[in-house]
Amino acid sequence: MRSHQAWSVPAGTAVVASIPPAERLILPALQRVQAVFGWVPDEAVDVVAAELNVSRAEVVGVLTYYHDLRQSPPPDVHVQVCVAEACQSVGSREFVSDLETAYGVPLGERIDGVELSAVYCLGNCALGPAAMVEGRLIGRCDVERIRDAVALAQEVRA
Ligand code: FES
Repeated sequence: MRSHQAWSVPAGTAVVASIPPAERLILPALQRVQAVFGWVPDEAVDVVAAELNVSRAEVVGVLTYYHDLRQSPPPDVHVQVCVAEACQSVGSREFVSDLETAYGVPLGERIDGVELSAVYCLGNCALGPAAMVEGRLIGRCDVERIRDAVALAQEVRA
């Protein structure tokens, strides 16, 4: 179960200031912020820039380049669906369409705390279509398997 601290500028400053000198680079700093707070709030950009003595533009450049860095609070349950070629060859397009219909939102959106997003290969190509629900890898996906995994993740969080 995830548990993140609530963001505040003093808390964020303390986190970034505690990074060892050898790791005082923009990407590790942003990753540290996300690990502690669950996302990288806009205020964290200023904190990282000030603590690392770099420009805000440099921090924004890294933040927007790496899609694993979140600029909004994390959902309750994150469903990542593989849309890469190997999974497409075994029906991921139809699976994605079914999933979007079942949840009523497209990939990239969230509903009732559940976020659907696209990912490009989960290393589970032999068992495609593949997905990951809150870090749990699922193969031979269909909507029912995803709904079960989401329900399990919600139970664990409750
Ligand atoms: S292409 Fe989907 S898991 Fe590799």
